[in-house]
Amino acid sequence: MKKVLVLAGHRTPDESRVNRAAVEAFKTLPQVTVHELMREYPDFKIDVRREQALLLAHDAVVMLFPFWWYSSPAILKEWQDNVLEHGFAYGTGGDRLHGKPFLLMVSTGGGEQAYSPRGYNRYPIEEFWLPFKAMANMTGMVWQPPALIQGTHVLTDSDLDAGVSRWLSHLHALSV
Ligand SMILES: Cc1cc2nc3c(=O)[nH]c(=O)nc-3n(C[C@H](O)[C@H](O)[C@H](O)COP(=O)(O)O)c2cc1C
Repeated sequence: MKKVLVLAGHRTPDESRVNRAAVEAFKTLPQVTVHELMREYPDFKIDVRREQALLLAHDAVVMLFPFWWYSSPAILKEWQDNVLEHGFAYGTGGDRLHGKPFLLMVSTGGGEQAYSPRGYNRYPIEEFWLPFKAMANMTGMVWQPPALIQGTHVLTDSDLDAGVSRWLSHLHALSV
């Protein structure tokens, strides 16, 4: 079975509903490592060697986060800026992530219809993935269609259960 690393990027994990439910569910899967970045690095001082070792020890990489201002919370950017070093993730000799599937799991407050030309977010959600997609391209990771839970402001408990079950299936698919 392949090993999946979930980089969980919620800024305030104790105040989360959706991402916390996902984290709790994912922790039951033996092939999945859930790595909650704000719990590990509340001061944003990321241990680069430790993170790189974790990447090498896993076959697939997932970023799990709530959509904040049309992107991830800052800890995931900090993680990218520090961990994806030249010679490791890109450039000469930087092939260590090549071939690893890369998946975004994102919860959005806005519903599907809000991300359209006539919706209040105006732009299709796909347009916001571009920096992540380009990062996957640069590092040789294999982009997977993002898995979303949308409309979190109006999500019922059963919608949430269904969404987390869908996410569990995505993780299962990455691990076989
Ligand atoms: C600072 C902040 C910025 C947000 N920005 C967006 C956004 O750009 N688009 C959106 O759809 N939802 C946005 N939201 C709503 C969150 O995506 C939503 O509350 C979150 O996905 C729910 O997950 P949680 O229960 O794990 O926190 C924002 C929320 C906060 C607190």
